[in-house]
Amino acid sequence: MAPMVRVGTLPMRLLALEMGADLVYTEELIDFKLLKCKRIENKVLNTIDFVDESEGNNVVFRTCEKEKSKVILQIGTADVGRAVRAAKLVENDVAGIDINMGCPKEFSVKGGMGVALAANLPKAKQILSTLVKALKIPVTCKIRIKKTVEETIEHVKELETTGISAIAIHARTRDERPHHKPHPEVIKAVCQEVKIPVICNGGSKEIEKHSDIYKYKELCGASSIMIARAAQWNVSIFKKDGKMEPVLDVIQKYLKYAIDYDSTAMNTKYCIQNILLSLQESEMGRRFLDAQIMEQIAEVFGMKEYCKKKQLEQQMKQAELEQQENE
Ligand code: FNR
Repeated sequence: MAPMVRVGTLPMRLLALEMGADLVYTEELIDFKLLKCKRIENKVLNTIDFVDESEGNNVVFRTCEKEKSKVILQIGTADVGRAVRAAKLVENDVAGIDINMGCPKEFSVKGGMGVALAANLPKAKQILSTLVKALKIPVTCKIRIKKTVEETIEHVKELETTGISAIAIHARTRDERPHHKPHPEVIKAVCQEVKIPVICNGGSKEIEKHSDIYKYKELCGASSIMIARAAQWNVSIFKKDGKMEPVLDVIQKYLKYAIDYDSTAMNTKYCIQNILLSLQESEMGRRFLDAQIMEQIAEVFGMKEYCKKKQLEQQMKQAELEQQENE
C-alpha cells in the first residue's frame, strides 16, 4: 500500500496487511515533525508511539510489533542531517525508510522536498547515499517519471548508484494530476535498464479487482505494484482470493482497528469518508457526517457497544499502570 497522508495510519496499514498487502508505507512524515518526537512504549495499546509533547502529546507516528517487518516509513526532507536523525529515531521500529521525491504540492516543493529533489539530483543522491550508509535497514525513494523516457532512465540510474534497495515510481510527471492517464510504458523501459527492484505506482484507476494488479505488473514489467487510491476506496483489493468485500464490511473492520488502537475521531472520519464516497449522501451517511466522537462514529456502523467496551478497557489499563507507577 502506497504512502497516503492521513489514510496510511496504523489502522489502515494493519487492515491492508490483514487483507494481503505485502508491504505498507506510512503517510509522509516531515523530518522536522519527527525530530520533535519522543519514542514512548505505550503499554495500554502495546504500541510504540512517537509523540510530540510540545503539541499536546500529539501522536505523530504509532506502530506495533505486528507490522514491524512490513512497514516502510516515508520521510519528507530536504536536508541530509535531518533525514538521518529522523530515520535513526525510528530505525529499530520499522522495516525500511523511504524518501518522498515525488510530491508536487506547494508545501513540499517550496521547502525543497518532494519533487523539488528531482530537480536537485546532487542533494537527492547525498540524502540517499548517506542514509544507506547510516542505517541498518533498507532505504528506498519514491519519484515521478520525467518528461521523457530517456531522462527518466538516466535519473533512476543515478539514484541507483546511491545503494538504495528499491525505487517506487509514480508513472506520472510532476505536472500530471491523478485523473491523467499514467504511463506504464515508461516504467517498462526503466525496468529494462536498471538492476534494483522497481515498484510501479499510479494505476489505481485501472486496478478495480485483485487480478488487475497482476495484469498491471505484467504491463509495466515492474517487480511490484504500489496502490494508493484503489486501497483507500476499498482495501480488500489486496485480498489474494480476489473476493472484494462490501464497503460496509470494510468500514467495520477498519473501525475495529481504529478503536483498538485509539485513533482520533478526526482521522477515523477522514478514512471512512474516503471509503463511503457517494454513500455519504444516504441517511446513514448523514448520521456519519454528524458524528463527532469515536462512540458516535461506531454507533452508525453498529459498533457502539464494542467501542464503549474497548475504551473502558483502555481506561482501566491506564489507571492500573498509573497505580503501579505510584506504588
Ligand atoms: C497520496 N500520495 C502520496 N504520495 C507520497 O509519496 N506520500 C504521501 O504522503 C502521499 N499522500 C497521499 C494521500 C492521498 C489521500 C492520496 C490519494 C495520495 C500519492 C500516492 O502515493 C500515489 O502516488 C498516487 O495516488 C498515485 O497512485 P494511485 O492512486 O493511482 O494508486
